[in-house]
Amino acid sequence: MPTFGNGRRVAIVAGVRTPFVKAGTAFKSLSSQDLGRLAVTELLQRTNLDGKEVQAVVFGTVVPNVQAPNIAREVSLLPMLPKGVESFTVSRACASANQAITDGADQIALGHYDVVIAGGAESLSNVPILHSRGFSDALVAASKAKSMGQRLQAFAKIRPRDLVPIAPAIAEPSTGETMGQSAEKMAKLNDVPREEQDQFALRSHRLAAAGTTDGRLTAEIVPVWVPPKYETVATKDNGIREDTSYEQLASLKPVFDKRYGSVTAGNASPLTDGGAAILLMSEERAKALGYAPIGYIRSYSYAALDPGEQLLQAPVLAAPVALKRAGLTLADIDLVEMHEAFAAQVLSNLRGFESQAWAERAGFPAPVGEVDRARLNVMGGSISIGHPFGATGARILTTLCNELGRRGGQFGLMTVCAAGGMGHAMVVERA
Ligand SMILES: CC(C)(COP(=O)(O)OP(=O)(O)OC[C@H]1O[C@@H](n2cnc3c(N)ncnc32)[C@H](O)[C@@H]1OP(=O)(O)O)[C@@H](O)C(=O)NCCC(=O)NCCS
Repeated sequence: MPTFGNGRRVAIVAGVRTPFVKAGTAFKSLSSQDLGRLAVTELLQRTNLDGKEVQAVVFGTVVPNVQAPNIAREVSLLPMLPKGVESFTVSRACASANQAITDGADQIALGHYDVVIAGGAESLSNVPILHSRGFSDALVAASKAKSMGQRLQAFAKIRPRDLVPIAPAIAEPSTGETMGQSAEKMAKLNDVPREEQDQFALRSHRLAAAGTTDGRLTAEIVPVWVPPKYETVATKDNGIREDTSYEQLASLKPVFDKRYGSVTAGNASPLTDGGAAILLMSEERAKALGYAPIGYIRSYSYAALDPGEQLLQAPVLAAPVALKRAGLTLADIDLVEMHEAFAAQVLSNLRGFESQAWAERAGFPAPVGEVDRARLNVMGGSISIGHPFGATGARILTTLCNELGRRGGQFGLMTVCAAGGMGHAMVVERA
C-alpha cells in the first residue's frame, strides 16, 4: 500500500475547531492565539490525551500577530502541555494549516515523532495596522535623538499623509492584484458565468445549513463563550445563511469589477475568525493508545504557478500528482473537498480537472476528470462556513475524514488554493 513516507503511516486521530465567525463579530476580542488554544484544548479533552504524549505543535497563520509571531509556541504553552513540547509556525497563505499538517506528518513519517498537533488560526478582526514609512522613520529618528530639539526636529518632518495608517491588503505583493480581482479574471478566462457562481454559492449555504441542523458540522465545533462579557456562547458558524435564495444572491452587486464583474459578497468567502486543530499520530502509537483514527494520510502534493496568470488555479496541478502518489484515480475517490475561496475559483478548478491542456501542464497524458457534484463539498465550504485563512485546511481535513466515515467511503481528496499562485492536494484513506 503506498504511503507518502518511509512506510510509517500517519493517522489522523481527531480534529476540532472553533465556530468560524465573520470578522468583527463574536470573536473580535479574541486573538489568533486564543482561537488556536481553544481548538487545541478541546482536541486534548475530546481525545482524552495526556499532554505528555504530545511532542510537537505545528500551527499555520497568514496574518501573524506582531507581538506573538510564533503562534505555535504560544499555543503549545497551554497548561496541559509540557513546556518541552517543541513548536513552530508555518505560512503558506490559505494552505497554511495544510502546511502545518504535512510538516507534522513528515516528522512522524521520518520517525522523529509519534504524536503531533497541527492546525491553524486566524483573527482577521485583529490584523496589525501599520504606520506609514514617513511616520516610522520619524519615530526611529526621535528614539535616537539626544536632545529635545532633535526629537522635535524628527517629528517636524511628519506630513499629514504620513499619518494615514496602512492595513494589510489581500493582494499579491508581486502583481498588486487582489484575490477578488484574480477570481474575476479566472471567471472570465474559464467562462464561468455569474449564474453558475451564484448557484454554487447557494448550494454551499444549503449544504452547510443542513450539516449544521443535523449536527454533523456542529459536532466538529467547540462552543466558545464570547468575551468580554461571557454571557453568550457561539456554538456554530455565523456566516451560513439558511434563508438565502438564488434571487438574493443574483441581486448583489459585483465588488471587485463593479462594471463587468461577477464576483460578489455572496459568491466569495467572507473575512473570518477561527481556529482548528488536528491530532496526528504514527499508526503504531495511535493503536497502542487505543485510538480509532478517523483517517490516514495516503499522499499529498503542493504546486505553484505564475501568480500573474490564474492565481487560484494551482490545485489543478497539485491534484493529479497527489492522486498518482496515492496510486489512485478520481474514480477511486469517494468524497472531494475543495476549498471555496470564491465560487469562480472552485468552478475554474473543476474545469481545469477536466481539461487536457491543464493535464499536460501538470505532466499527465489525461485529465483528472469530472468531479461528481454529489461527492463534492457535501457539507458546504468556505463560502458559507467562512475562511479564517490559517485554519481552513484543518477544518476541511476533519470534515472530509468524518464524512467519509459516515458514508462508509474509503478514499477522499482535498484541494486548497492559496495566494502566490500555490495549490495543495491531499489524499486520505479511512482504514
Ligand atoms: C467580498 C467582500 C469584500 C464582501 O465584504 P462585505 O461587503 O463586508 O460583505 P457583507 O457580508 O457585508 O455583504 C455585503 C452585502 O451582501 C449581502 N450578502 C452577502 N452574502 C449574501 C448571501 N449569501 N445572501 C444574501 N445576501 C448576502 C449582505 O447581507 C450585505 O448586504 P447589506 O449591505 O445590505 O448589509 C469580503 O467578504 C471579501 O473580501 N471576501 C474575499 C476574501 C478573500 O479574498 N479571501 C481570500 C480567498 S483565498
